[in-house]
Amino acid sequence: MAVLVGCGQAPKKGTTSNVTKQDFGKTPDGVPVELYTLTNGRGMQTRIMTYGGTVVSLTAPDRQGNFADVVLGMDDLAGYLKGVPYFGALIGRYGNRIGHAQFTLDGQVYRLAANNNGNSLHGGNRGFDKRVWNAAVKGDSLELTYLSKDGEEGYPGNLSAKVVYTVTPADELKIEYTATTDKDTVLNLTNHSYFNLKGQGEGDILQHEVTINADHFTPTDAGLIPTGEIRAVKGTPLDFTKPTAIGARIGQNDEQLKAAGGYDHNWVLNRSGAGLVKAAEVYEPTTGRVMQVWTTQPGLQFYAGNFLNGTIRGKGGKVYPRRGAFCMETQHFPDSPNHPDFPSTELKPGETYDQVTVYHFSAR
Ligand code: BGC
Repeated sequence: MAVLVGCGQAPKKGTTSNVTKQDFGKTPDGVPVELYTLTNGRGMQTRIMTYGGTVVSLTAPDRQGNFADVVLGMDDLAGYLKGVPYFGALIGRYGNRIGHAQFTLDGQVYRLAANNNGNSLHGGNRGFDKRVWNAAVKGDSLELTYLSKDGEEGYPGNLSAKVVYTVTPADELKIEYTATTDKDTVLNLTNHSYFNLKGQGEGDILQHEVTINADHFTPTDAGLIPTGEIRAVKGTPLDFTKPTAIGARIGQNDEQLKAAGGYDHNWVLNRSGAGLVKAAEVYEPTTGRVMQVWTTQPGLQFYAGNFLNGTIRGKGGKVYPRRGAFCMETQHFPDSPNHPDFPSTELKPGETYDQVTVYHFSAR
């Protein structure tokens, strides 16, 4: 690489930033929303809006090198404001469900919005997916910050959250999450992108072959709240230790699949210590696209888009049918605040919550 010398200035780092910004409208209460485009110089591109810190689009190559947008979303802000099931959004304060919409911390009961069959889902009525984040471009990354005030959606503590999105030269979307609090609290951040590796709006995902690096999962009750058991996947249709098409067993007469209407469970990732592990790999046979998911988190919610039902018209007017996408939400286990045996989701003043998830794309 050529480096300019001799003009009296040190070469500047980051001046060829691959992040651009445009206006993306205003919320009903007049707050401007921005849309950032991040590219890696190799063709991969993502667009992220400050409303919900949402991944609006993400392109990945097929085996011929053709790029397609592989995430569900809407063409404009109005589409998102009409109500979508968390397409691409950051989820907080607590990803997935908290049973009976309450938990006890330091002897105090905290009540949350019961927005899902008596339970609390994805942070309540107005979670992080419905907040406008502050944005700053840092080199090739987009840094989003949000201050969630003490008591917001029932959660204790002023929580400062930071999420850094990067499209790396290795064809990855990297998401780094950090947060601090001024009071004991619980926290479980994730991203809720819906993937279809054929391309968004290109039918269902039942032929996608999934591998999950997990020997166990957390079975749920009828309301999708973990019972507390850590159950072996062996001998069940939730065994994805070897590549298996999503559709191969999703219709089986299995008590767990029936309760959730398909795959919508938390897998307990195999790990021998802290750090990034490969959580899952997904292969789409017609295009050859491969997505690997790497994370520092203990769990993975693999959701097969069972609740999509063809009523949403997304980007480019595409209809999103039942199981028209899948989610791979890296996370702590659902309802952890009510299960002392699960890895703790508590965050205390002086500590820093720190998680990383990487979605890596290739084709074969
Ligand atoms: C949950 C599903 C839910 C979906 C969208 C997933 O994380 O596990 O049950 O329907 O999010 O709301």
